[in-house]
Amino acid sequence: MNDLLRRLLFLPPQLSRHARDVDGLHFFVVITTLVAGFLIFATALVFMIRYRRRREGEATPEVQPKHWHEAVFVGVPLAFFLLWFAIGYPQYVETTQPPPGAMDVFVQGKKWMWKFAYQGGPSSIDVLRVPAGRPVRLLITSRDVIHSFYVPELRLKQDALPGRYTQTWFQADQPGRYQVFCAEYCGLSHSGMLAELVVLPAPEFDIWIAEQRRGEARAQDAALTGSERSMPGSSILDQGRRVAADQGCLKCHSVDGSRHIGPTFIDLYSRHEKLTTGEVITADEAYLTRSMMDPAAQLVAGYQNVMPSFQGRMTPPEVAAVVEYIKSLKTPATDAGPSEGPVYEPIPR
Ligand code: CUA
Repeated sequence: MNDLLRRLLFLPPQLSRHARDVDGLHFFVVITTLVAGFLIFATALVFMIRYRRRREGEATPEVQPKHWHEAVFVGVPLAFFLLWFAIGYPQYVETTQPPPGAMDVFVQGKKWMWKFAYQGGPSSIDVLRVPAGRPVRLLITSRDVIHSFYVPELRLKQDALPGRYTQTWFQADQPGRYQVFCAEYCGLSHSGMLAELVVLPAPEFDIWIAEQRRGEARAQDAALTGSERSMPGSSILDQGRRVAADQGCLKCHSVDGSRHIGPTFIDLYSRHEKLTTGEVITADEAYLTRSMMDPAAQLVAGYQNVMPSFQGRMTPPEVAAVVEYIKSLKTPATDAGPSEGPVYEPIPR
């Protein structure tokens, strides 16, 4: 049934279970609204014929609807809207909650291309390779204007916003090549802002990424043997550590748990922080990014509003790298309790 309707509506194949669910809701909404529209027109037609004016000057009786009529007219459509919500909301929650253990890919929109970077390398332009049957989390941002990452086969569309990270995830089940579009008008070549999603069988993907990383390591060795030493670090973590040091983050934020001008970075990720407003937030990717772009917006209680904004001073990949760096700073065996002395992470400079 689902597949038949998909063909009838000329929709692309469903690459994930999520796509099937989205289509299911879509078909349900289309069918109920079609049936309702048909009933309304049929009623109008019957009334037109049955209550037509037969004589000049003839008046039809005035009808006062009863209360239960009104209740039905309001209640039935309302019930349908609530039903759509009840089906759609869990789907929304699912697409916005990546499962633990999903592979992270950083996505950056830029006029007019898509860049993809894997944790620990490599990075690529306009080709996103993912393993089939494994969850992939996308951390999406933009370098300039608002773009929107859109893969019809995944029924997945997520805005890419400058200075902010949005996340979504998917699990593609069928190996193959699929088109990535930009779904937010972003200027002259918006329609040409295309990329390709290549879903590889998982073992093939593992081989590919291992090869890429080996190649990168070789290239880096070659670069290091030369006099040039300005090449970026090998992984996102190294890059994040370097950026955090270069931008002066570490002058105010310790990485060993000691209190300084700003909150310590160690165990900061997913920590619950109380703000000056009394609100308690979780320090997730979105909060960490926002704190770099607009530090005054959500200030942790007990700290002064002295941090400058890094909006425009760091590129989105640098912000992503710092976020990854912060995420990596964890005291080992956190079950030992925070009172234990945290392990000091040395900062290579
Ligand atoms: Cu990018 Cu439209």
